[in-house]
Amino acid sequence: MRTFDTALTRHAHIEVPIICGAMYPCSNPELVAAASEAGGIGIIQPISLTYVHGHDYREGLRLIRRLTSKPIGMNALIEASSKNYHERMIRWVNVALEEGVRFFVTSLGNPKWVVEAAKPLGGIVYHDVTERKWAEKGLAGGVHGLIAVNSRAGGHAGPKTPAQLMDELGPLGAPLVCAGGIGTPKEFHDALALGYAGVQMGTRFIATTECRASDAYKQAIIRAQENDIVLSERITGVPVAVINTPFIQRMGLKAGPLARWMLRGRRRKRLMRSIYAVKSLWQLKHASLDETGEKDYWQAGRSVAGIDSVESAGDVIRRFADG
Ligand SMILES: Cc1cc2nc3c(=O)[nH]c(=O)nc-3n(C[C@H](O)[C@H](O)[C@H](O)COP(=O)(O)O)c2cc1C
Repeated sequence: MRTFDTALTRHAHIEVPIICGAMYPCSNPELVAAASEAGGIGIIQPISLTYVHGHDYREGLRLIRRLTSKPIGMNALIEASSKNYHERMIRWVNVALEEGVRFFVTSLGNPKWVVEAAKPLGGIVYHDVTERKWAEKGLAGGVHGLIAVNSRAGGHAGPKTPAQLMDELGPLGAPLVCAGGIGTPKEFHDALALGYAGVQMGTRFIATTECRASDAYKQAIIRAQENDIVLSERITGVPVAVINTPFIQRMGLKAGPLARWMLRGRRRKRLMRSIYAVKSLWQLKHASLDETGEKDYWQAGRSVAGIDSVESAGDVIRRFADG
């Protein structure tokens, strides 16, 4: 397998600049470990590890460690919407550091406290951003690199294309990782050619043998084409990329009038976000594991267009490296 030398491979101590992005509810320990073992880096999603896949957090990290001795990363969603949640995230980051994790991907909020916890131990922090304003905030907090989440991404997509983000964020001088729309080796190499130090992929890794998502979900990704992906506000209150299934059509894509009103005021918005969070965590967990395919409530990005089979995560990484 070909190996690479980019700012990301040097920072994360990996051979191929591919991050298997954190995914609620799809990041299970076996998937994280397989991506790392193959030379990329798997990112732990703590709520997925504990609530969806039922592991005690520290034991889950140790399970991954038994499956691979290569570097692994952890996702800290740092939106401080609830004090309890924030305190729990601080504990999760500290336990990850105790268990030897040295690569962190932060999303939302201000990543400064994660940098302050990780840096003294040699930890590296990359921050998810969708535009320059958030990138500057992240860099002011001391992050080492930026993950530029574009308009083709699964999860919370941004408004801009990979080329626009390169133009806008490149001058800031930090290593940039391209997140969104990478489903084929060509798309991976095109991102590197644009100047990205690597890619973060989510959707491609759901259609793998190690991912514990249901077969119905994986087959839906294989069947879907780019125009089957729609943005729904009904899940978290902000647009999330999902496959346009009968369930999604029944539900509609826009937040209802009550939710829209709740999302307007600052305090109400917080409460509404918490209600959305609890509801969507439950729904997404059950839909992703449901083998009947009746709960067709599936997040995926536009990279579905290039995904046509279930492979092992290691085969994906090797094929992309050599492709
Ligand atoms: C099902 C799903 C769940 C996701 N959950 C998270 C998450 O919990 N935290 C996060 O930072 N990013 C999350 N993401 C974003 C991914 O880490 C990654 O940036 C994105 O999937 C890249 O786009 P792609 O799906 O086109 O490859 C999620 C993406 C998907 C598809």
